[in-house]
Amino acid sequence: MANEEFKAEMNGFSNIDHVIGVVSGKGGVGKSMVTASLANALAAQGYRVGILDADITGPSIPKMYDIHEHAMSDTNGIYPAISGNGIEIMSTNLVLENEEDPVVWRGPVIAGVVKQFWTDVIWGTLDYLLIDMPPGTGDVPLTVYQSLPIEGVLIVTSPQDLVRMIVTKAFKMAQMMDIPVLGIIENYSYLVCPDCGRKISVFGESHIDEIAKELGTTVLGKIPMDAEVAKAADEGAYAGVLSEYLDDAIVAVTKL
Ligand SMILES: Nc1ncnc2c1ncn2[C@@H]1O[C@H](COP(=O)(O)OP(=O)(O)OP(=O)(O)O)[C@@H](O)[C@H]1O
Ligand SMILES: [Mg+2]
Ligand SMILES: [Zn+2]
Repeated sequence: MANEEFKAEMNGFSNIDHVIGVVSGKGGVGKSMVTASLANALAAQGYRVGILDADITGPSIPKMYDIHEHAMSDTNGIYPAISGNGIEIMSTNLVLENEEDPVVWRGPVIAGVVKQFWTDVIWGTLDYLLIDMPPGTGDVPLTVYQSLPIEGVLIVTSPQDLVRMIVTKAFKMAQMMDIPVLGIIENYSYLVCPDCGRKISVFGESHIDEIAKELGTTVLGKIPMDAEVAKAADEGAYAGVLSEYLDDAIVAVTKL
């Protein structure tokens, strides 16, 4: 299905080794947090990393890294912003006149912007480009799957009702597009009691191991709720966050 004629051309000044997508069947499960945490971990290991914020109408990556500038451009293309820990970032917030302006573009325009972030952005030499997707299985994931040379996707979910259906949808979409699913990451898995250290399953017992098994994939991480992480994201201090829950995901990505 990944027909060559759909492929968008990479910028002539870019040289990117691995392109990985972070997806979910629904919103708010922590895709952006996982994308940024993975980027931080890879950068800390010395890899050259970029984040393409494909959440065109609801970008959240620049704010996490306290990036508020306008992207520079010249006749060769558009230059990504660089986070405090050296991650290259491109997002609609960097090309809008005012970062608080709403993006009210129609589907085809949005899909065009995603392709521009690949074709017009001068990423330079990167080991990993992580793509933070908007929620669901709509236009943008479809465009990314068809136009960009994605090597695999990570599916992020939370433990809640309907998780089987939601994860399966995201899984099947990747499958239909011939994109390998590297594994599933469960976010908000539990809360550690600040008094006794016990793990509290806020959303009830998780079924993610069972669901992963049914789909023939693996769980690459279970991330607890952590107020510090939310605070760092809110305050633009995410460059200083190093998650201890993504070791298996990092192995899966770095063996590609
Ligand atoms: N494990 C966690 N502990 C505490 N807060 C978290 C955790 N994961 C995510 N958050 C917070 O929850 C909010 C939603 O997370 P995030 O933006 O990563 O979700 P998303 O799946 O990218 O959402 P969207 O679908 O809108 O793009 C953010 O404010 C984030 O900082
Ligand atoms: Mg997001
Ligand atoms: Zn307790």
